[in-house]
Amino acid sequence: MNRFRRLRKNKQIRRLVRETQLNKSDLIYPVFVAEGKNIKNPVDSMPGVYQYSVDMLDEILVQIDESQIPGLLIFGIPAHKDELGTAAYDDNGVTQQAIRRIKLNYPDLLVIADVCLCEYTSHGHCGVVCEDKILNDETLPLLSKMAVSLAKSGADIIAPSDMMDGRVAAIRNALDENGFIDTPILSYSAKFASAYYSPFRDAADSAPGFGDRRSYQMDGANGREALREIEDDISEGADMVMVKPALAYLDVLKAARDRFDLPIAAYNVSGEYTMVKAAAQLGWIDEKCIVMENLTAVKRAGADIIITYHALDAAKWLEEDK
Ligand code: PBG
Ligand code: ZN
Repeated sequence: MNRFRRLRKNKQIRRLVRETQLNKSDLIYPVFVAEGKNIKNPVDSMPGVYQYSVDMLDEILVQIDESQIPGLLIFGIPAHKDELGTAAYDDNGVTQQAIRRIKLNYPDLLVIADVCLCEYTSHGHCGVVCEDKILNDETLPLLSKMAVSLAKSGADIIAPSDMMDGRVAAIRNALDENGFIDTPILSYSAKFASAYYSPFRDAADSAPGFGDRRSYQMDGANGREALREIEDDISEGADMVMVKPALAYLDVLKAARDRFDLPIAAYNVSGEYTMVKAAAQLGWIDEKCIVMENLTAVKRAGADIIITYHALDAAKWLEEDK
């Protein structure tokens, strides 16, 4: 008989043989910045998450800084939206202002900038719309302009989440042509069309005004296609790739880990966060234990980077349990 229980006898021996260790350095916290002044808006569907205006941002930045996680993923919510999402590539746009503010006050915090048009377009789609179609090639120059504008503002990493084909190559080209040869790209390579994004769309005010995103985001049934998407983004120049959502797609994450050797991020998305928060508020689960179990599972499946709304809490718990 194998006596596996020998190595489970007490806390220290379990610690000694633990295979997967979640670290603060794995975590990235998403931040929503709204245009305007004196804004700290709670996001109803995401307890504990707020939209901040640029003048109020320091309140959350100080927490991120003190938590000792490497940085944040920034999403802007402009006051004015239009068909072509022009606020996305305005050098004085809300996201650009926010990035400049962060890099001025907290130069050591890594700023990852999400590149996508859906928060900026009046129709809420991630690309240029013509009748009922989302155009691919016409969207690429706009994403490229946005990426350059965000890099100019001081973004450390550019993270395209739009799922247009060819966008990594287009963005890489534009960054290089504008002198940002050292700005890495973290591509949302395997991004599935998911119902788990709906709280985010409240937070970022980015729900599509008609139809859905299934003509550009991936079908949740397709694991092999996800590996092709990742492979393609690597060949186009992605420095890091992402699987999103995380928990419902751990098999995809694991397959990507086995196949590719570059850093892989997993996005523990809004709906995954909200389900935990809701059950915890009802007293039906133990929030800390569930969060640590979930994040450890994501790490075990192969993530080097975990983007999560639990990041500040998790960092606190990791510190407490040291
Ligand atoms: C923008 C974007 C979305 C998310 C990240 N970037 C929403 C979407 O594609 O509809 C989702 C993040 C989350 O749910 O936490 N394209
Ligand atoms: Zn989008």
